[in-house]
Amino acid sequence: MIKGDLVELKPADPDLSGWIIRELNNMEQTKHQNKGIIPITIQQEIKYINKMNDSSTDVLFHIYNNTLVGSISLNNINWIHRSAEIGVMIFKDHQGKGYGKEAVGLIDYYAFNILNLHRIWAECFIENMAMNEIFRYFSFIREGTITDVYFKNGKYNDVYIWNKHWQNVKGNLESTIEGESK
Ligand SMILES: CC(C)(COP(=O)(O)OP(=O)(O)OC[C@H]1O[C@@H](n2cnc3c(N)ncnc32)[C@H](O)[C@@H]1OP(=O)(O)O)[C@@H](O)C(=O)NCCC(=O)NCCS
Repeated sequence: MIKGDLVELKPADPDLSGWIIRELNNMEQTKHQNKGIIPITIQQEIKYINKMNDSSTDVLFHIYNNTLVGSISLNNINWIHRSAEIGVMIFKDHQGKGYGKEAVGLIDYYAFNILNLHRIWAECFIENMAMNEIFRYFSFIREGTITDVYFKNGKYNDVYIWNKHWQNVKGNLESTIEGESK
């Protein structure tokens, strides 16, 4: 549906829930996220994907490079304030290949140029070097730090708040909108 050079974002497919929960139940994969604390089942993930796909305030994509390599979402879309929160995950075996960076570029393009949002934002563990680098690259502004937000890895973790207004949009990745089909 939204195609870049490396990855394509397609509607989330509940039939692929098994691949998603394998990652979400992997504590190494989720060490920089408020996830992977309580184990989740395939049934719960199927329910979640169906709920997201029916939602008018969330958009969930699966990320493909031939095969499924992760997921990316805009959550809690507020159509009055035109804001949404970004979430992204690249599967452990596919990290470090540029997929996360391009997927964020594509969702950035989609948020501002297709959904006509005004602001997208995210919170990110301060130790999550790759993710913080991606937000910096796409001209998100680091507007603050919140301390002791999440108890993870045996300690309380601080997060950065990353924020981007449409005024900061420049030089987004060229992307091809290929219509609604998978
Ligand atoms: C964070 C995540 C999405 C990044 O995706 P990825 O595909 O592995 O990242 P990329 O290969 O696109 O690389 C991102 C950039 O971070 C840089 N980077 C990676 N590790 C780094 C480090 N330790 N210090 C500084 N920069 C680093 C890379 O060099 C790259 O920049 P470049 O293109 O200029 O070289 C992925 O690691 C992931 O899913 N992690 C688990 C879930 C998660 O943390 N999600 C984010 C929640 S906010």
